[in-house]
Amino acid sequence: MPERIILVGFMCSGKSTVGRGLAERLGWEFIDFDEWIEREEGRRITEIFREEGEPYFRRLEARLTERLKERRRVVLAPGGGWIMQREPVAILRAGSRMVWLQVTATAALERAGADPTATRPLLSGDDPLEVARSLLEEREPFYQQADLCVDTVGRTPEEVVETVAAWLER
Ligand code: S3P
Repeated sequence: MPERIILVGFMCSGKSTVGRGLAERLGWEFIDFDEWIEREEGRRITEIFREEGEPYFRRLEARLTERLKERRRVVLAPGGGWIMQREPVAILRAGSRMVWLQVTATAALERAGADPTATRPLLSGDDPLEVARSLLEEREPFYQQADLCVDTVGRTPEEVVETVAAWLER
């Protein structure tokens, strides 16, 4: 068993739900980066983006990563853009198994609901689908460094948990 499992993937790929389920199944701790950051900052991710801008948020993610590097037996769910930061990813990579939860831009937006920008500030603009497509395209090469890739489209979070758990127990 690795020391940590890191779930990476685009917005709405199911990282939080699958992460919680997987952690429960393994008897490990679960840490959702966005939740942690919101708790520490005392404000929502959308507010952090609006009031401080994206670079500030990325620094918070990097700082949290640094604090987590000694943790063992933990399932981590960083936000979808964390993978683009070289140093934080490198800090956690050793001793971890990285799993990419794959989703298409269309499915991600369906899951995000009627007002995707309410919780995902990066999907703002006139055409959230186009924004999602282009972000996904830019990030895909980075998600590809994962050790396992699971297609989540048309599958329940429980099924995805099963797939990841079976792979870990191989
Ligand atoms: C982001 C994804 C969000 C959140 C922030 C930025 C991104 O997390 O961290 O809005 O850059 O893709 P989820 O992937 O959990 O939606």
